[in-house]
Amino acid sequence: MPVSYLEKTKIFKLDAGDSTYVLRVADEGYLLGLYWGAKIPDADFEGYDLRDYASSFSPRNEIVGEGRFSPDVAPVEYSGFGTGDFRKTPAALRNADGNDATDFRYAGHRIHEGKRAPAGMPGLRADTPADCETLEIDMTDRTTGAALTLFYTVFKDEPVISRFAVLKNASDRPLEIEKLASASVQLNAMDFDFIHLYGRWGAERNYVRAPLAHGHQSISSTRGSSSHYHNPFAALAKHGADEESGEVYGFSLIYSGSFDITADVDYYETTRVNMGINPDGFLWHLEPGEVFETPEAVLVYSAEGLGGMSRAFHRLWLNRLIRGKYRTEKRPLLINSWEAAFFDFDADKLVSFAERAKEIGIDMLVMDDGWFGRRNDDRSSLGDWWVNEDKLEGGLGSLIERVNALGLKFGIWYEPEMISPDSDLFRAHPDWCLHVPNRPNSIARHQYVIDMSRKDVRDNLWEQINAVLSKYKIDYVKWDFNRNLTEAGSALLSAPRGEEIFHRFVLGTYELMGRLVDTYPDLLLENCSGGGGRFDPGMLYFSPQIWCSDNTDPVERLAIQFGTSLCYPASSMGAHVSMSRRAGFETKGNVAMWGTFGYELDPNRLGEKDLEIVKKQTADYHRYYELIHYGDLYRITDPWDNAYRCAWMFVSPDKAEALYTQVNMRYYHCPFLLVRFRGLDPAKNYTLEGTGKTYSGAFLMNAGLNLSECPRGDGSSFTLHFVRE
Ligand code: GLA
Repeated sequence: MPVSYLEKTKIFKLDAGDSTYVLRVADEGYLLGLYWGAKIPDADFEGYDLRDYASSFSPRNEIVGEGRFSPDVAPVEYSGFGTGDFRKTPAALRNADGNDATDFRYAGHRIHEGKRAPAGMPGLRADTPADCETLEIDMTDRTTGAALTLFYTVFKDEPVISRFAVLKNASDRPLEIEKLASASVQLNAMDFDFIHLYGRWGAERNYVRAPLAHGHQSISSTRGSSSHYHNPFAALAKHGADEESGEVYGFSLIYSGSFDITADVDYYETTRVNMGINPDGFLWHLEPGEVFETPEAVLVYSAEGLGGMSRAFHRLWLNRLIRGKYRTEKRPLLINSWEAAFFDFDADKLVSFAERAKEIGIDMLVMDDGWFGRRNDDRSSLGDWWVNEDKLEGGLGSLIERVNALGLKFGIWYEPEMISPDSDLFRAHPDWCLHVPNRPNSIARHQYVIDMSRKDVRDNLWEQINAVLSKYKIDYVKWDFNRNLTEAGSALLSAPRGEEIFHRFVLGTYELMGRLVDTYPDLLLENCSGGGGRFDPGMLYFSPQIWCSDNTDPVERLAIQFGTSLCYPASSMGAHVSMSRRAGFETKGNVAMWGTFGYELDPNRLGEKDLEIVKKQTADYHRYYELIHYGDLYRITDPWDNAYRCAWMFVSPDKAEALYTQVNMRYYHCPFLLVRFRGLDPAKNYTLEGTGKTYSGAFLMNAGLNLSECPRGDGSSFTLHFVRE
């Protein structure tokens, strides 16, 4: 069984794939995190937790064990606050006496098959209860009556442990939660590099890696969404760990709101990672008997470097998170109207896109922003989700019929969480936007944020969305989110619940998105937030794909897609070929192929030569679909290490074929450009398509091929397709 409990030593052992995680209940009920790393068959961790302390400055609450114990030094698995452990705490509670002192001690546990997600939030899924095992550890703070349950789920064959925490106010007085992390993790070392993904609009998820130092390093968002700026993902890699070797610990939070991931290196050179909802801007009120649940956190261990960690995340999201028809069913190849027309379109123009798209081999036309209310630019109408028939003469039904008659599916754009001051909805309900008393609202992109915490607001949105989706044949929805939260208050939430708004907003969004995908299970949903401003596992749960960035320049996309791939699979990365100027259509296609693939241009503007290239690309989309969507990714040359070229490859899970892609960002002629491929079967032979030449997997991976005669020129690119004999 993946979870075992050894009564004699009070040790919990969690065996997840090739990894092991060990906890122990020490004397006086302290729960200690003893080990997380490569698999260890035995469970003899006796004495492992006894960390000496010899200082007057590490207090203890009671005499524990041999009297050498202090929570300040011990690897406390989920600490409280103000009771002897001075490191960054995962939990801070303000009790009815007006202090924050909290001290959680073990009270009991349960081990069972299967798992559940935290209430109202996305989470990993077990298809059958036998897929995984869950350990629930109950902890109590004896003084305040706060009852904490820590959930740990182990998926048998994956190096993955998922966690969340539930806090119940089991006292007869109110309690405020100031902070409650989803997970707190102890690592017995500090020789790590902290890796994370930072960015901004148009340049999301850049890779950054720096050694951990004493003190703490954190990434976070206070924007009410996971954001362009930091992603709710981080990794700790042992110094020297690289793409395919060395130990890496990956952390990801299944949450789309403000988050915080902190690595805290203590005075004795151990590291604690806390991750969860950002305590800045968070305060949750619990009346007696009430319960609060955190989002789910995912921990991945890899002994095969960053590549091993990424592949574990990719498999996990594909098999255990993404849901709905398009998790496994082939997705339509789409063309989107945004960069082709922006707000300037009518039915005939869209049909002309569809006509040419059909010739090219495209399966679906997506009508982006601008079809509703009186919206002809970004200054109005968010909230008025009725069809603009002045623009779409003949109505939406007629447009969809014309598109369908060509054999294309039809998709549409929404931005439900927003409201324009210039909208009928705002004029009717000025208190439906987020706002606080006596303070003017900040405006961004000419819009306010709608109050998703309110059920009446969500019901109104649902009525409007459902009126369109139930009437017309719509196969796809792009759900956008184009600004962050400010003056975050709700007309229905006042003290002591006012600061619950950030999290209640996210819960409201999840509820509405859930209604959408539950009511329309055949719909393909794509999330978006000014490009990739909400590219997180919470959104991935609802939509198998997320628009990666508004930046469609293929050269700049390389860094964005490389960074995104640290945690997210190719099948989730919305990537389109556009009219961007840098690089030709071959390279635009080769880069977009590392994603969902699609087009975002006026196909009538394609010249003869480009049209031929595009037709080949749409054929390649079908040819390589399975390989790219379900294959294993190997990053060969990273754009952050090499300013000249980058390369990656996909290998099918059975290792029967592989596709290598190289882009020369800045070309120079290198007479000996040796590339060693990865992920192949060393004992099998592979034919390089188009050459008739055959090599063993061992040769390709160890000796490699000299690719000095590759296509030349800045922005040039090529692919190599290997097929096993
Ligand atoms: C955002 C999206 C774009 C497009 C526009 C429409 O910026 O990222 O793809 O949908 O909104 O306003």
